[in-house]
Amino acid sequence: MSKLHRYMEISERLSREIQSGILPAGEKAPSLREITKQFGVSLGTALQAYEHLEKLGLLRSEPKRGFFVNRINPPRLPEKTVPIAIQPADVKSLPLVDEVLQPTIGETEFSFATAELDVIWQPVQGLEKALRAVVRDEMASLGQYISSPGHPALRQQIALRSFEWGGNLHADEVLITNGATDALYLSLRACTQPGDIVATESPAYFGLLQLLQNLQLQVIEIPTDSQTGIDLAALEEACHAFPVKAVVVSASFQNPFGFSMPDSHKAQLITLANKRDFAIIEDDVYGDLFFSNARPKPIKAFDDKDRVIYCNSFSKTAVPGYRLGWCATNRYLPRIKQLQIEQNIAVSSLPQLVMHRFLQQGDYSKHLLQLRERLQRQLPEIIETLQQHMPPGTRVSRPDGGFVLWLELPGHISALDVYVEAKQLGILVTPGDLFFSQSPKRNCLRLSCGSPFSLEMKTAMMKLSEICQSLQYAGTS
Ligand SMILES: Cc1ncc(COP(=O)(O)O)c(C=O)c1O
Repeated sequence: MSKLHRYMEISERLSREIQSGILPAGEKAPSLREITKQFGVSLGTALQAYEHLEKLGLLRSEPKRGFFVNRINPPRLPEKTVPIAIQPADVKSLPLVDEVLQPTIGETEFSFATAELDVIWQPVQGLEKALRAVVRDEMASLGQYISSPGHPALRQQIALRSFEWGGNLHADEVLITNGATDALYLSLRACTQPGDIVATESPAYFGLLQLLQNLQLQVIEIPTDSQTGIDLAALEEACHAFPVKAVVVSASFQNPFGFSMPDSHKAQLITLANKRDFAIIEDDVYGDLFFSNARPKPIKAFDDKDRVIYCNSFSKTAVPGYRLGWCATNRYLPRIKQLQIEQNIAVSSLPQLVMHRFLQQGDYSKHLLQLRERLQRQLPEIIETLQQHMPPGTRVSRPDGGFVLWLELPGHISALDVYVEAKQLGILVTPGDLFFSQSPKRNCLRLSCGSPFSLEMKTAMMKLSEICQSLQYAGTS
């Protein structure tokens, strides 16, 4: 394991011990020498770990005395959402979405708006190698349709990857789509009719809300906890009161809340779906970007009766521009395939062939390792910087993976005002209002941090906090 991994591993372990009180506030931390012995690392690595903990505010060094555990206030996390009414309604129009997603090119100083990896973190070289191999060996296939459900060898590679989470998917249950958006769209169409009722988390990814609106589906927003996800008791009540046809959820590092659903909740959700006879559409686009040692299990891993239509893509982990995603289901596959043929005939051949090579060569796995390490290394620092500089009372999410953060500003600061003022300075953020279909919380922002924690990013964060501070003092609402 690299030196980098070791220092992060040590600081994470100590951070957990500090947060859980095993290392109490005010106590002297183990000496650097003890750390070298306990973890079998060099003095330099031990020091690096302690410096990192100092930066996070968990340790302080006292001259000639060593390191001491700081008194920490428990992190103030975003609050659980409770929509005004738990009943079906049309999705209200979402006019800002187009504007937020299409900023004026050239005027942007820094963008936290689109949930996208910086191009320097995309696996450009590996994909170029794969592209060359395709051009060399498969030129003739490039111009031909690859009929639905998609390139068999790519489906095979995707199925193989599911072994990592105990999914044991078979290539025959995988269908390639134009990104996760298309996978969600086809899944919704396969299990609903216009006018049907769908339950979602609140907040939910605004692209999903747009799909629900376009498909003329009624939505019930279910209370959602920023740590554990959808409130299962509230969902059960909603299913008792209304004929819910499908529930759309994310289990890992949800956009925008960042929560991870406990495994026990995933199993309970499946039990509820079996009892109440609804489909689960699972959006797992951030699932591979975990910071812990093992990949979190998707809900699909608990699916004993083939209720879950599992949706994913390569957009958040590698390249959104390839527009490659997939869904996995046995039960709904024939219907989804028929819909795909009617709508699109097939997914473009070139990205499928290239992505297959990329996966087959083992380059995707290598890329993910590096990407996770980068994200894991910087996200705590970004969170701490925000926590230090945003107005007191700001709550910031602490996801265990992915790269989106959710900020709850002190009550009277309007996220739309922040959005407008920041945009004038060339800083783009996404107002939280976009993630609610009925009862928006008006004081939330989503920041996407899929680029290196650079001076530009820090400067943009400082400007953002100045805007929030000035709006706070101006008392805008
Ligand atoms: C939760 C979630 N699902 C789906 C998508 C869309 O993914 P794709 O680009 O693969 O269509 C996004 C993109 O932001 C997302 O955040």
